[in-house]
Amino acid sequence: MMSGGLNTQVSPTASQASELIRSGQARSEAVLEALLTPGSAAVSERLEDAMRYSVLGGGKRLRPVLLYAVGRALGCDEEAADRAALDAAAAALELVHAYSLVHDDLPAMDDDDLRRGRPTVHRAFDEATAILAGDALLTLSFEVMATTGHVRTPALVRTLAEASGRRGMVAGQALDLEAVGQFREVEALSRMHAYKTGALIRAAVRLGGLVAVDEQDSRLAALERYASAIGLAFQIQDDILDVTGDTATLGKTAGADAARDKPTYPSLLGLEGAQERAGQLLQEALDALAPLGEAAEPLAVLARYMIERDH
Ligand code: IPE
Ligand code: IPE
Ligand code: MG
Ligand code: MG
Ligand code: MG
Repeated sequence: MMSGGLNTQVSPTASQASELIRSGQARSEAVLEALLTPGSAAVSERLEDAMRYSVLGGGKRLRPVLLYAVGRALGCDEEAADRAALDAAAAALELVHAYSLVHDDLPAMDDDDLRRGRPTVHRAFDEATAILAGDALLTLSFEVMATTGHVRTPALVRTLAEASGRRGMVAGQALDLEAVGQFREVEALSRMHAYKTGALIRAAVRLGGLVAVDEQDSRLAALERYASAIGLAFQIQDDILDVTGDTATLGKTAGADAARDKPTYPSLLGLEGAQERAGQLLQEALDALAPLGEAAEPLAVLARYMIERDH
């Protein structure tokens, strides 16, 4: 969307990104609200409250936004059945992401008190409830994904499982915990980032793609290259913002990585080196989109947003 108004501060790309994000956020928010609406079937009110608090308390919803954008770029967002499958996949992925944050913040992991501008789940409730809420979000995610009715449901479920578990996000979190004070090589750091954050970003792109086309479609390979580049760039920007951002804008405590001696891109390459690497990855992502032509323009806009965002 081109901005024709008086706000000359906002570039067309920034306004396009905010419109894409706003519509994807609203769509995934509605699906998540419906899934987590308190019903008469609730067994533990406290567990349900903690799940809602984890998922519905803000968040950029970037993984759903990406998933919807890929689906649309491959032309699958018209039919009701495809729309329902995209909604289910987007919600399932965001549930895994929300669970990963709840556990990431626990005292045994990053021990953070603030997330999305509010107390973390273990602070607002208690540790045991945060662990259980994470567990229940993860299992709910697979329930949602398994019941889409889409013809490629087995591939969708497998994609989510591989991205989440021992060869995906959880493996990256294990590397992260082993790495405190450790990495001197950028290769080891990029490997850790590719698992802990890249895996779910790649899943967003692949899930959106698999709703639209089958596994043999050559555009999925191009999208995989795009996703790997933006996944790493996204975590590099997260590392950068930990240094340059302020707690109020981030909604999480600035400077937490340095305080815990976490290996990050700025700690290894310096701030400028990290920014330069993010810029190279953006270019790789844009190059990867070439085979998709004009249909991929929203994906290019989102790639830029990934490394220009301020929170
Ligand atoms: C934070 O992810 C954790 C990382 C993987 C860097 P987001 O920056 O997407 O967090 P929310 O969902 O918007 O809060
Ligand atoms: C988190 O990385 C990656 C996850 C899988 C949750 P970080 O630990 O850097 O994320 P933030 O900075 O707490 O959001
Ligand atoms: Mg962490
Ligand atoms: Mg953390
Ligand atoms: Mg971080």
